[in-house]
Amino acid sequence: MELELTNRILKNREYQRVLSQLREMEADRVFCRHDIQHFLDVARLAVILCNDWGVSCDRDIVYAAALLHDIGRVQEMQCGIPHDIAGQAVADVILSDISCPDDAKKQIISLIASHRSAAPKKSQLEQVFCEADKRSRSCYCCAAQAMCNWSEDKKNLDIEV
Ligand SMILES: [Fe+2]
Repeated sequence: MELELTNRILKNREYQRVLSQLREMEADRVFCRHDIQHFLDVARLAVILCNDWGVSCDRDIVYAAALLHDIGRVQEMQCGIPHDIAGQAVADVILSDISCPDDAKKQIISLIASHRSAAPKKSQLEQVFCEADKRSRSCYCCAAQAMCNWSEDKKNLDIEV
């Protein structure tokens, strides 16, 4: 299967537990949610951007990182730890649990660590992944757009690839 690691993560009990905890915590959230739809939007956009920008990628690594990149939101909401930091430890546990090879684990955690706009990015893939995360948000039809803390120049006000 092409997306072997991705599907092992999806079926992992701890991953499903964190995902449902996140779903409950964000049930009344008016701003963008961090759910499976967002994760798949990021994965698919990242693959499209890799093609457009001529960046090579392993799609299983990209999809796996997309599934895991925001799971640290639970700790961020509970104790204020930035989710790109908290998510690395949660991902490490899940990736060990699914017997992810060390090299793949390193790449996935590195994408989680660098996915926010301000984080330093080392590789082209990390830049693509961060851009995909940003572009995945449909600000142009968001009811909470006026209350959102994203600056006007950061908001996606037109549909782009
Ligand atoms: Fe995200």
